Amino acid sequence: MKSTSRNKHKEKQVGSKSSRLPGFYKRPLAERIQIIADWAGLDSDEAAVLNEQGLTNELADKMIENTLGTFALPLGVAANFQINGRDYLIPMAVEEPSVVAAVSNAAKKIRAGGGFQTSATDPVMIGQIQVLDIPDMDAAIAAIEANKASLLETANCCDKVIVSLGGGAQDIVARPFPNTPVGPMLIVHLHFDTRDAMGANAINTALESLAPKIADLTNGRTSLRILSNLADQRTATARCTIPADQLATKDRSGQEVAKLIEEANAFAIVDPYRAATHNKGIMNGIDAVCIATGNDWRAVEAGAHAFAARDGRYQSLTDWHVDENGDLYGEITLPMAVGMVGGATKVHPTARVAMKILDVNSAPELAQVMAAVGLAQNLAAINALATVGIQKGHMALHARQVAMAAGAPEELIQQVADQLVSERRIHVDRAAQLLDEMKKNVIE
Ligand code: MEV
Repeated sequence: MKSTSRNKHKEKQVGSKSSRLPGFYKRPLAERIQIIADWAGLDSDEAAVLNEQGLTNELADKMIENTLGTFALPLGVAANFQINGRDYLIPMAVEEPSVVAAVSNAAKKIRAGGGFQTSATDPVMIGQIQVLDIPDMDAAIAAIEANKASLLETANCCDKVIVSLGGGAQDIVARPFPNTPVGPMLIVHLHFDTRDAMGANAINTALESLAPKIADLTNGRTSLRILSNLADQRTATARCTIPADQLATKDRSGQEVAKLIEEANAFAIVDPYRAATHNKGIMNGIDAVCIATGNDWRAVEAGAHAFAARDGRYQSLTDWHVDENGDLYGEITLPMAVGMVGGATKVHPTARVAMKILDVNSAPELAQVMAAVGLAQNLAAINALATVGIQKGHMALHARQVAMAAGAPEELIQQVADQLVSERRIHVDRAAQLLDEMKKNVIE
């Protein structure tokens, strides 16, 4: 009861658009596109990108080498997200059934508690310069410290746009490694604010300009000059509180379920074998948004997993616990090196439309949305795992793919899938058998 009155108060939203899309999944695809086009103000060309494959072979040929064609993935939209009081529809490109449905469902529960509260650091990337053959390590570090200002100036040489927007080089940090398999080395970190870009090119260019000066100052030899994907100066955080009553099932009270979720999270805190799967579930959502928006999902993956092991033991990226009111509190923080200018975000037609649907104003805002998606995706997974098990919902959707893999025509996919689920035998050979039987029945 207490939760319900609080919820009413919290359901107030910023802006007039609601991300609630009741019955959306039941609409024909063309209608769904129209609804989203209206919601996001897409023009007819942009809506057409959703209607057909957005990336042409011609454009693909300009993006990578030895192009043969394109590789399409389903693009869906997750509903119900409310982040810092504003509603968002979340474009997701993913091949795995149930990811979009599950995250939308979790976002609905989170919405009932006032949605997500998120924050992000400035978009500061770390770049690394490897320095070897240094005759005097202490003197080298002192020289870097003494010349920091001019080093920062050199690092700002090459991307005047980022600098004019308030970004650019922020700090230089010297990290000695006295014992490596090849002898002592000094790693010099450049902290570089990339503003709305993911910033790989900006920081790598800055590092390459900086390296000769570092070699001079240290009397050493510089080798690798490359960004670090452990972007722990560029993190996003999402938090939420779910009223316990939102978690109630027909067999269990909401408080019981909240406790089960806390226990599931504790499993991922103590056991890396579980943490890997727990975090994979988080990345199901985050990667799907990265792909849809043309962001480098491998970079975000690398950052997330390295961050999860930052204390020397790989563990959960989330915290879920029952709070003092008996409600469920959840939180996630992770590196989020994503951008909204440059790269595929601006080149890939579908990514451009996805960005328009998402309607974020800055890279840190995009990072916060992604953190919220990760938190919701994780809630969906551990809520199911700790109660009915993952297979119930998952298999119903997986069965459709199995039916398709067995060659079911459009009009028989659902029928074959339903039969597979009712028999609890979700295998391609059984689907093929059912199809044969169905076809025979039609002929007879
Ligand atoms: C499956 O893609 C993701 C899950 O395994 C995540 C988890 O176990 O938390 C369900």
